[in-house]
Formats: sequence, structure tokens, C-alpha cells
Amino acid sequence: MGTGNGREKWATKIGLILAMAGNAIGLGNFLRFPVQAAENGGGAFMIPYLIALIFIGIPLMWVEWAMGRYGGSVLGHGTTPGIFYEMTGRKRWAKILGAIGLWIPMVVSIYYIYVESWTLGYAIKFAIGMVPKVKASAGSSQAEYLKPFKEFLNTYLGVNGNFFKPTFAYAVFLLTFAINYYILFRGVVRGIEAFAKKAMPLLYIMAVILLVRVFLLKTPNGDAVQGLGFLWTPDFEALKKPDVWIAAAGQVFFTLSLGFSAIVAYASYIDRDDDIVLSGLTTTSLNEFAEVILGGSIAIPAAVAFFGVAGTVSIAKSGAFNLGFVSLPAIFVNTPGGMFFGFLWFFLLFFAGLTSSIAITQPFITFLQDDFGFSRKKAVTFTMLLIFVVVQFVIFIPGVLDEMDFWAGTIGLVVFALIEIVIFFWIFGADRAWEEMNRGGVFGIPRFFYYITKYITPVFLGILLAVWGIQYIPKFIANFKWQVLLARGIMTALFALFAYMALKSNSKGEVHK
Ligand code: PHE
Repeated sequence: MGTGNGREKWATKIGLILAMAGNAIGLGNFLRFPVQAAENGGGAFMIPYLIALIFIGIPLMWVEWAMGRYGGSVLGHGTTPGIFYEMTGRKRWAKILGAIGLWIPMVVSIYYIYVESWTLGYAIKFAIGMVPKVKASAGSSQAEYLKPFKEFLNTYLGVNGNFFKPTFAYAVFLLTFAINYYILFRGVVRGIEAFAKKAMPLLYIMAVILLVRVFLLKTPNGDAVQGLGFLWTPDFEALKKPDVWIAAAGQVFFTLSLGFSAIVAYASYIDRDDDIVLSGLTTTSLNEFAEVILGGSIAIPAAVAFFGVAGTVSIAKSGAFNLGFVSLPAIFVNTPGGMFFGFLWFFLLFFAGLTSSIAITQPFITFLQDDFGFSRKKAVTFTMLLIFVVVQFVIFIPGVLDEMDFWAGTIGLVVFALIEIVIFFWIFGADRAWEEMNRGGVFGIPRFFYYITKYITPVFLGILLAVWGIQYIPKFIANFKWQVLLARGIMTALFALFAYMALKSNSKGEVHK
């Protein structure tokens, strides 16, 4: 801490790596990945996924680490309004583009903390045994297994018109919010780093216990190994389907926290000469292990053991949360030790979510501190107040969450990543960018990544956006329900606020205490 310019610095290397791993490893690894894989044909998904990882994920990871470290240690700006401004030779429009890097994490943070609170709520319900304990009889159909847990989820969330009912869910949301507030309030080292050092090892242990449990599941419908076969039998036909490519690339972005500014902000607390080459790669590896090995070996194999491959695919397609919040609880309750494993599953999700939600909330805090001279405590309080107001719309008005997830958490990331690469490699300059990426490295990045990052990654992103744009954006825009319009209004207002603040921000790169 305190290397002279008044910004915090990560206290230890292991702390930095675990905080970054906590940033990346989130609900995406355990909930989103299995659903995406099942929906996109299992083995068919994995080839585009691995290609996207190498050609987009890893290069962008280094780019974001390098931009963040340069921003924090040289410019005194840990977020993109200041970083883009300096990297473009002080162009004011760059601050507006940089404001996207405040807007995306803020919008995602607003709904992510809410979803995270469900995992804590479910963990508590399992811990105290307040879940349906109906054992399905031997010949039960899939629907009979799942029905009590579908109803349980609906009651928890207060859909079915019970607007004022879910007081438990709301109380747990407040608790989740308070925990996030507390960790962030303590700061980068005493809050985020200290928490990650405890939470991440525990997270891996919980996931491994669950994995072992799942591998012991066996029913007349199948077993866990068939689930792995489904995930790991490659289907080269899938390479011809644009949808699978889009889903795979989208998942790589989401799971690695790329295009959110969250990696940039964390990296801004790294010392100028510390390694980022190996650290960035280590974080990526820790995330991929947690995703394809652990995340891939729990929800899908368990569901396949109970419901077969076709059943699993139909569950995944029936709604984003059905695999994790409906089918897994049903499976655990119908097996010995179900309350404990149910608790473990949701507590694992809660830890995964918590170490991510603090990371998505950090960029705006960093911005207020660096560019407006706010104290840490004032910055955290201001940020959390803003989240608290907006999240009420997400909680009480159905449809707002999905709209925000599409614009900020899906399309926004890819647009923003493209802007990052263009500014860093094409405006700031490829050779300077490459030098920044390699500076202090324990080893040098293989040279072919220079060409990949300069040419292939942006072209890949451009094609993705074009295909996506044509296929999905018109469909999404043509939705004029009042809930959707409200969500768009909120998002527009937030962007206007951030763009205005970015323009007004301290642009001299003076470092504040
Ligand atoms: N990577 C996280 C996940 O997999 C999501 C996230 C994005 C977290 C951006 C922090 C910042 O769930």
C-alpha cells in the first residue's frame, strides 16, 4: 500500500491472484456455463468455446491487465474515462467512450447482486430445512420431480402475482447488499483481498465435494459419466452454426469478466513493475478449471444422471435458472444427505457470486476516488446508494433484469472490448501496448499473440457484432412493453450521468488521496 501516489496496492501476489480469480469465477461458471453448453448441444459447444478462449479471452485478459496497471500506476486513473483520454492523446470523445466502462459494470452490478441474494436465500432455506422434502416415487416423471421446486422458486421470487409476499427474499437481499457494502467499505486490501484469500480456497473445496457427490449418483435414467460424455464428445458440425459461436464467445467474455472494466479496475492496483503475464494467465486458468472442470461436472452430470440427456437439454432450454434453482434442488432432496448438499451447492454459488459482485461494483468506486477525489468511504457509499435505488426496479418490475442483461451484460461487453482493443493497439500503438503487456513479465508472451491481438481479436469481435446485430438486435429493439421501456429509460439516464461525470472529471491525471 501507498507507493507514493496515494492509491492502494495489492498487499500480496497470492492475494491479487485470488482476488482476480474471485472476480472471474462467479455465477457464470456454475449456472450460466452449464446452461449454455446444454442448450448448444454439449460437445458442439466446446470447440467454439476453446477457440474463443484462445483468440479472444486470453489476449483480452492481458490487454485489460496491462491497461489497468498502466492506468493506475502511471496515469493515476483506474477506469476507462481517464485511461482512454490519455491513451488517445487527450481527446474528449474518448471520455465518453470511457463512460461505457463505468456504465456496463454498474448496470450489471445492479441485477447481479439481486440474483446473488437468491443463492444466499436458498442456502439459508436448505440449512434450516425449509424446502420441499417430497420424495418422488420410483416411477415419477421428470415433471413430477421438478414441480415442487418450480413452485418453490416462484414463491421465493414472488411471481404468480404475490407482489408483497416475498419478505424473506427481500430481507436476504438486504443482507447480501450489506455484506457487499461492508467488504467494499474496508477497501481493496483489507476488504477485497482479505476476503478472497479466505473465500476462494473454500470455494474450490466446496466444489470438489459436490463433484464427488454428483459422480456417485446413478439412477435407471443414467449416471454422471453419461453427462460428461455429452459435454465432451466433440461435434464438428457445430462450427457451421453462428448461434453456437455467439453463445460460446459470449460465455468466454462473461466468465472471464472481460469487457466489464472489472479486470481493469483491479489491475490498476498493481505495481508498475509487477508481473502481469503469468498472473493474468494463472487467473484465466483458475477460472477455466472452475468452469469446465468443476462447473461442467456438477449441474449437467447430475441432471443427466436423473433425467437423461434429452431431459437435461429440455430443462436448460426451459429457462436460465431452472437447471441450478429447480433441477439441482430436486435431485439433492431425492438423494441421501440432500439438505447438506443442497446447502453446499447454494453456498458455493453465494461465494462465487460475492467475490464477483464486489468486482463489478469496484470500477465506479475507483472512478469516484481517482477522478473526483472522493475518499474511499464516500465513494463506496455513493455507489451503493445508486445501486440501492435502481435495484428496486429490478426487484419489483419483471422484465427489467432481462433487458439490462441483454444490453449491458451481453452486447455491451463485446462492443466495449472492441473499443478497448482499438484504443490500446491501434491508437495508443501496438508496440507500446505490447511492451506494456510484457513489462515485468516472468516470461515473455509468445509473439504470435501480438498478431492475434492486433488483427484477429478485433476482426473476430467485429464479425461477432455484425452477425449478432443482424440476428438479435432488431428482435430485441422491437419490444415496447412499458417494463422494457422503463429499463431502457433507466439505462439511458445512467449513461447520460456517467458520460457527464466523465467529461467533468479531473483530466489532468492528478492523483488524489
Ligand atoms: N465473471 C463473472 C461470472 O462468471 C461475472 C462477472 C463479470 C464478475 C464482471 C465480475 C465482473 O459470473
